[in-house]
Amino acid sequence: MTATMLSPAFVAHLPTGILVGGHWGPAAGGATFEVTDPATAEPIFDVSDAIPADAVRALDAAHAAAPAWRAVPPRERSELLRAVFARLVARADDIAALITAEAGKPLAEARAEVLYGAEFLRWFAEQAVRADGLVRMAPSGGNAQYVSRRPVGPSLLITPWNFPIAMATRKIAPALAAGCTVVVKPASLTPMTTLLVAEIIRSEAEARGLPAGIVNVVPTTQAGPVTEPLFEDPRLRKVSFTGSTRVGQALLAQASKNVLRSSMELGGNAPFVVFEDADVDAAVEGALVAKLRNSGQSCVAANRFLVHDAVARTFADRFAAAVGAKVTAPGTRPGAEVGPLIDEAAVEKVSGLVDDAVAHGAQVLTGGARLDGPGHFFEPTVLTGVDADARIVTEEIFGPVAPIVAFGSDDEAFELANGTPFGLAAYAYTTSLARARRAMDEIEAGMIGINRGLVSDASAPFGGVKASGLGREGGEAGMEEYQETVYVAL
Ligand code: SIN
Repeated sequence: MTATMLSPAFVAHLPTGILVGGHWGPAAGGATFEVTDPATAEPIFDVSDAIPADAVRALDAAHAAAPAWRAVPPRERSELLRAVFARLVARADDIAALITAEAGKPLAEARAEVLYGAEFLRWFAEQAVRADGLVRMAPSGGNAQYVSRRPVGPSLLITPWNFPIAMATRKIAPALAAGCTVVVKPASLTPMTTLLVAEIIRSEAEARGLPAGIVNVVPTTQAGPVTEPLFEDPRLRKVSFTGSTRVGQALLAQASKNVLRSSMELGGNAPFVVFEDADVDAAVEGALVAKLRNSGQSCVAANRFLVHDAVARTFADRFAAAVGAKVTAPGTRPGAEVGPLIDEAAVEKVSGLVDDAVAHGAQVLTGGARLDGPGHFFEPTVLTGVDADARIVTEEIFGPVAPIVAFGSDDEAFELANGTPFGLAAYAYTTSLARARRAMDEIEAGMIGINRGLVSDASAPFGGVKASGLGREGGEAGMEEYQETVYVAL
C-alpha cells in the first residue's frame, strides 16, 4: 500500500474515466491502466485507457459545443474561469496530495504548483474580457482597417507529466477564455490531477448553465494512435503540446496536413551563468531553485552551470554544501525537500549521464548515485570539472544533477550558453548592469532570469526559441495562441 496523504473521502469522488460532452464514462475498449506512486513504485489508481474512437467522440463533442461556447459573452467565460480558480485554491491541500501521489514532488512544492496552476485560471479570467482589436486609417487614407480576433476553434491540448495541474491549466484556461473548446490528452504517468480539474470545470459550467463539452479529456497509454485521427480531421483547428522536441517535431509534421495552428513548448538546456562579479550566495540560492524544483524535472531547469574561473571553487563548494544538505525523501514525509524521479527509466537515464561524466574526468562533490529502497530516487548531485561537450551538458538531464563547467571570459560564457540547439530558459548572475544587459541581448533563450532562479509566472509569456518551441503560454500572448486575426478593409 502507499503512504499517500489522500483522504478516502476525497479519493472516492475522483474521476478516473473519460470525459466527453459533459459525461464521464469508461473507454470504448473497456481497458484501464495503472497510475503508480513514484515514491513507492506501487499502483495507486486505475484510469480508463482511451482508444482512437474515444478521441473522435471527444472531438465530436468539442466541435458540437464550439458555436454555443464562442457565443457565451466574454464576461461569463471570465466568471467561469474565476470560479474554477477559487475552487482550486479552496481545495489546494487535497489537490497537492494528489499531485504528490502521482508525480512524487514534496507536498509543499505540490501546493505551490496548485497555486501556480490556479493562477492561470485567474489570469485568463482577466484576459477573457480583453480580446483587443484595432481600428486605424490605412496609410493611403482611402479606407479604414479593422482588425479583430476570434476563437481559432476546437483545440487539442497534449500535456506532460511533470506539472500535472499547471501544464493543464496553462492550456485550458486561455483556450476557454478565447472561446475555444478543447480535447485534452493528459500524460498517462500523471492523469489524475487533470481529470480532477476537468471535473471541476465541468461541474462549474453545468451549475452556470454553460454548454456541456467545452472540456473533453481522453487519458490514454496510446498517445500516437489516439491523437492521430484528430490530426486527420479538419474540425480540429489547433494543437498545443508540451514535451520533448522529438515528439514536438513529429506532431508538427502531423499538424502540417490540415495546417493546424501549433503551439509547441519543447525541450530545454538552460545555462545558469555565474559571472565573476556575481553575488555568489545569491547565485547559490537561485541555483537551488533552478536545479532542484521538481527534482530537476522541468523544461526550465538549469541544465549546466557555467561559472567564471574566479568564483568557480567558491560557488561549487557552497552549492555542493547546500545541495548535500537537502532532504531527499517521499514527498509525503515531513521535511522532504527533493522527491523521487517519475519512473525507473528516468533514474537510469540520470545515472547513465552521471557515470559518463565521471568516466570522462568529472568529480562528484556531493551525491552521484541512486538511493536504495523502493521508489525512484536519485541523490541531488553536484559535479565539477565537467567538459563543455560532455553528454550531461549537451543532453537535457531532467534530474537533480548539476554539472559545473568553468569559463574564463564573458565571450566564452556567451558562446557556451548559446552552443546548443535549444533556447528555452537561461539564468545569469552578475552585479554589473552592463553584463546583465549583454546577457539579455545575447543569450539565445525565450526566457532569461537575471539574478533570479525562477522565471515561471502565469502573467508572463512562457516559451522558447530555436528547437525549444513555437508560441507562448501565459501573459497576453497565451490567449492570442487560441485566436485568429481577421482583418477587414472598411
Ligand atoms: C515545464 O517544465 O515545461 C514547465 C515548468 C514551469 O512552468 O515552470
